[in-house]
Amino acid sequence: MAFTIKVNGNTHTVDVDDDTPLLWVLRDVLGMTGTKFGCGMALCGACTVHVDGAAIRSCITPIESVGNSAVTTIEAIGATAAGARIQKAWLDREVVQCGYCQSGQIMSASALLASNPHPTDADIDNAMSGNICRCGTYVRIREAIKQAAQSTGQGG
Ligand code: FES
Ligand code: FES
Repeated sequence: MAFTIKVNGNTHTVDVDDDTPLLWVLRDVLGMTGTKFGCGMALCGACTVHVDGAAIRSCITPIESVGNSAVTTIEAIGATAAGARIQKAWLDREVVQCGYCQSGQIMSASALLASNPHPTDADIDNAMSGNICRCGTYVRIREAIKQAAQSTGQGG
């Protein structure tokens, strides 16, 4: 059936089954391949996007549950204040190794910073615990989130 969804400020009408995961719609129907498939079972975080600003796992989010909510993906996160700070910090700290998990990492980190501009270590651990990195970039991820948080309120 037809669903109309809002992704990165644009409206799209897609014709898919009710239970089609948002991840499939983004990648296979809309061709937005920045969001990655890892496990398909909410275990790795590679598929993380924002729905109304909250980080969610798109692999287990059926399209019928999205409704009029605003979906934001890695393709547009740099247009948000928190996303821009996170992406700058990611580059400054050279966080990325193979890169496969990093879309999801950046989406989780951006959602954290947008809702909590000065997260504690525990806040960071809590927000990022569902994002797995097989390359082990966790130390640099934490440093980058702290750098991005320090730039909050400094015009950065
Ligand atoms: S692909 Fe969604 S959490 Fe792994
Ligand atoms: S950078 Fe390779 S899996 Fe995270």
